[in-house]
Amino acid sequence: MYLSQEEERTLSGECGKTSRRMMEILVALGDIYGAERLIPVRSVQIAGVSFKNIGDAGLEWIRDLNGQVVVPSILNPAGMDLCRWQEMGISEEFASKQLQTVEAYRRLGITIDCTCTPYQIYDELARPGDHLAWSESSAVSYANSVIGARTNREGGPSALAAALIGKTPAYGYHLDECRRPTHLIKVDADLAGSDYGALGFVAGRIVKDGVPLFRLRSRPLRDELKALGAAMAASGSVALYYVEGVTFSPPLPLESEETLSLGREEIEEVYEHHPGSGAEIVALGCPHCSVQELERVADLLEEKKVTKELWICTARKTAEARPDLVRKIEASGARVLCDTCMVVSPASERFSKMLVNSGKALSYLPGLCGVKAGFSSTKDCIRAATEEGPA
Ligand code: F3S
Repeated sequence: MYLSQEEERTLSGECGKTSRRMMEILVALGDIYGAERLIPVRSVQIAGVSFKNIGDAGLEWIRDLNGQVVVPSILNPAGMDLCRWQEMGISEEFASKQLQTVEAYRRLGITIDCTCTPYQIYDELARPGDHLAWSESSAVSYANSVIGARTNREGGPSALAAALIGKTPAYGYHLDECRRPTHLIKVDADLAGSDYGALGFVAGRIVKDGVPLFRLRSRPLRDELKALGAAMAASGSVALYYVEGVTFSPPLPLESEETLSLGREEIEEVYEHHPGSGAEIVALGCPHCSVQELERVADLLEEKKVTKELWICTARKTAEARPDLVRKIEASGARVLCDTCMVVSPASERFSKMLVNSGKALSYLPGLCGVKAGFSSTKDCIRAATEEGPA
């Protein structure tokens, strides 16, 4: 890979040990994937925040770094609400390690917004055509597909390296040739709300790491695109998709003539195969809820009381922007949890079954948390959380 003189100097250690180590990571990645050069990034979103995932070894690795990020950089969700962790049943020991992890990131100049929806709280982190180094798979999908920016799905160390150097190797989704659609998927059904999570759950399994181009009858809203991309990133490993007439157009035409057709039947099967019966908890906000989603939940909970645990996960800044909605939701007994989510928090592991409205949580809860998952619409999730008897 071509390196400028300044990049060579950084690699040789002239700018310090941390910069050298970070440049080594970027150069190794670039060499593996055949990148020709490094490109500047506008922003970085760093995974590897939940202490559940990184453990003591990860914490020590971050603590050992010495430097300051050179581009706006924010964090993925942590393993707990950083303020209300006791209410989640998190142990003192875990909380202490989690707070130390966040502190280690703060010391590097990283903004402590722990969210998978950075685009919902900051407009300036990603604009069309920007190169980014984002980690969390739903955020990557949204950035590539809805915002029209360009990012690979970075691991924690490579994202951190991009944050400290301000660059990433130019390969994968940074290049036009990797942004060409691989499958055309026609959906002959009217979809709304959680149907998009169900569609993503089905489509991700089919296209795996491909780039689907959807021809839809309905016109998805931004939160619905968020749910679609998140589900495909989890049931497959889709990092980029297109919706005809809605998202940006592909830079290159469809790779093959292969066309898949999906209809109401395939969507309904997702609900039917994942009933909510027996769920002890209901969790919404995967990806983190937008203000519009909080408004809907608040309306659905009006004058109701929860009969089982109900978590609503969101970014702290989103919750802080609308304390009225948080109050309205929590008047029902539900909890609005910030900085964390049902998948990355160990708090989920004390439940045997969780009801969700997210195709991503549906994919990840069994494997990553050992928790069975049911899938329903937002309305039915709220109904299940507020009704007596089985979910
Ligand atoms: Fe976000 Fe956690 Fe879901 S990181 S996309 S809420 S699994």
